[in-house]
Amino acid sequence: MSPWSPSEFEGAVVAVTGAAQGIGRSIALAFAAQGANVAVIDVQEAAAQAVVREIEAGGGRAVAVACDVSKRESVRAAVGAVTDSLGGIRVLISNAGITRPAMIRKMTDEQWDQVVGVHLNASFYWLQEVVEPMIEAGGGRIIFTSSSTAQNGSIGQVNYAAAKSGMLGLMRSAAKELGRYNILVNAVAPAALTDMTRTVMTDPKFGADPSKSTLRRFAEPEEIAPAYLFLASSASSYMTGQVLSVDGGSMMVR
Ligand SMILES: NC(=O)c1ccc[n+]([C@@H]2O[C@H](COP(=O)([O-])OP(=O)(O)OC[C@H]3O[C@@H](n4cnc5c(N)ncnc54)[C@H](O)[C@@H]3O)[C@@H](O)[C@H]2O)c1
Repeated sequence: MSPWSPSEFEGAVVAVTGAAQGIGRSIALAFAAQGANVAVIDVQEAAAQAVVREIEAGGGRAVAVACDVSKRESVRAAVGAVTDSLGGIRVLISNAGITRPAMIRKMTDEQWDQVVGVHLNASFYWLQEVVEPMIEAGGGRIIFTSSSTAQNGSIGQVNYAAAKSGMLGLMRSAAKELGRYNILVNAVAPAALTDMTRTVMTDPKFGADPSKSTLRRFAEPEEIAPAYLFLASSASSYMTGQVLSVDGGSMMVR
């Protein structure tokens, strides 16, 4: 039995970035299955529309919103589009991500800027764009997708680790600043086999091998999504500024 009431997300507007595939897609499907109205936000518009069709085929309600989260104007337009089509955002899940791995001596400014733009700048843009309507609505939930890399670092990923660590500083500060408005801000640190991680995890050069993790296997994105349901639900009503690791115990074995 779920720790949250199955009906508590009925009609709630949940915006998920990077929802065209991978973990974001699973989050979108999980919330839709709970009755939420889901904004499937992604730079890949056709793939986002395919997720919407999948949700609609299951009897749910969703809209696809094309957005490049690393661009302020695009984020602002996306928030407007979601609000116009579904209503005010009650739960924001800032999840879009990329990797541009390279060893320090070879990393280009472009690789650095792209990764910081999609993870850290985007987190700031989304936070600023949703906060006012959430205050007016009397509260909300903001959940960032971070990474164990934020704490552990990762060979070949100074850009990604720096962006994900920065995201946690932003998350904790936002939690402190917004608690008085009943806005709870948390992060999930996942590990799952997706397009993004397939290259990094399976390339021995970058030193990541989940088969050596506590559970000795990769996770499917579907195993990550319930953590977001929890952090958006009344079951986590006294939890803010936290990082929830859903990584098969990999944080413990490093
Ligand atoms: N998979 C893992 O093990 C793992 C581990 C730690 C953190 N994460 C984080 O989880 C999140 C989801 O990653 P995933 O593994 O599902 O990867 P994925 O590559 O399958 O999905 C990422 C999604 O983000 C979208 N995206 C990329 N750039 C964008 C942009 N500029 N604007 C809008 N959308 C954009 C992509 O189109 C894609 O749909 C990322 O933030 C990633 O850093 C994943």
